[in-house]
Amino acid sequence: MEKKTIAVVGATGAQGGGLVRAILAEPGKGFAARALTRNPTSDKAKALAQSGAMVVAAELDDAASLRKAFEGAHGAFCVTNFWEHLSAEKEIAQARNLAQAAKDARVTHVIWSTLEDTRKRVPLEDARMPTLQGKYKVPHYDGKGEANAIFGEVGVPTTLLNTSFYWDNLIHFGMGPKPGPDGTLAFTLPMGDKKLPGMAVEDIGRCAFGIFARGPEFIGKEVGIAGEHLTGAQMAAALSQALGQPVVYNAVTPEVYRSFGFPGADDLGNMFQYKADFEAEYCGARDLDFSRSLNPKLQTFAQFLAANKDKIPLA
Ligand SMILES: NC(=O)c1ccc[n+]([C@@H]2O[C@H](COP(=O)([O-])OP(=O)(O)OC[C@H]3O[C@@H](n4cnc5c(N)ncnc54)[C@H](OP(=O)(O)O)[C@@H]3O)[C@@H](O)[C@H]2O)c1
Repeated sequence: MEKKTIAVVGATGAQGGGLVRAILAEPGKGFAARALTRNPTSDKAKALAQSGAMVVAAELDDAASLRKAFEGAHGAFCVTNFWEHLSAEKEIAQARNLAQAAKDARVTHVIWSTLEDTRKRVPLEDARMPTLQGKYKVPHYDGKGEANAIFGEVGVPTTLLNTSFYWDNLIHFGMGPKPGPDGTLAFTLPMGDKKLPGMAVEDIGRCAFGIFARGPEFIGKEVGIAGEHLTGAQMAAALSQALGQPVVYNAVTPEVYRSFGFPGADDLGNMFQYKADFEAEYCGARDLDFSRSLNPKLQTFAQFLAANKDKIPLA
């Protein structure tokens, strides 16, 4: 039987990479992975080719390149990388290119990796958090959420996949525990006692694979995934256990977090405030049993830490 090809945007990255690995790990399910990258000669691209993916060149700013890369594919996993440029407008333009290319190439199932448009609950005039870049509250959410409608407008069969905070941010995004003045490790989040849905990023790709494997069931639907919903205190307790030394939860206010000064601190401060203020809705949109039904290997935070604790920088 001919395999169904999934064209994977961001295949050299965290989300797309997880999906490529999930496809290749279960050849019996009848899918093949086509890995899209701007640079097919990079080490990561070569490693994907070696592991069994077909690697093709594509650029999100170039719709024709996407159309070519999507040609003949059954499905397409679409993701944009806000953190490379910090522009919601650019993400929206890239999402339009993706949707149009998928339509033109007659892709039968797109997964759009997205996040909520926070302005639906926190309109720009709501002064609880500053408006950023003139028209957003959480730019890296709002652009993706605004782009959801584009897939419908263009008329491409799409599943909107709301992802969750990567626990891997503790490794790669400077969000791990840091020693305080007395040397005790402190894990900082502006979430008070509210729960943060989180997951190992590898599980996003595995859940996406679960969606493709279930067939058309989730076309036209918006779904959300997470590994666990945990408070900052619970995360600090799990970190203490895994690291074998005390980690305290340092609950700062969103105002303080926004003032940290690194690029995107204001965006992330607003994001955490949104997640805290709309805890019930935000967690409710990311059901754990549903996520596990897509991906039986779904990790808990403790499992993630057991496998990754040595990679978390503690300085
Ligand atoms: N950190 C979190 O907690 C979190 C949670 C939920 C959602 N997100 C979202 O996840 C997104 C990033 O996904 P990720 O973590 O998987 O990214 P990543 O690991 O940083 O990798 C980015 C991927 O995107 C590809 N890419 C970037 N720009 C491209 C372009 N112009 N044309 C073609 N390919 C391009 C890169 O491919 P090449 O370099 O090989 O071309 C690479 O594979 C962000 O938008 C972020 O908002 C993050």
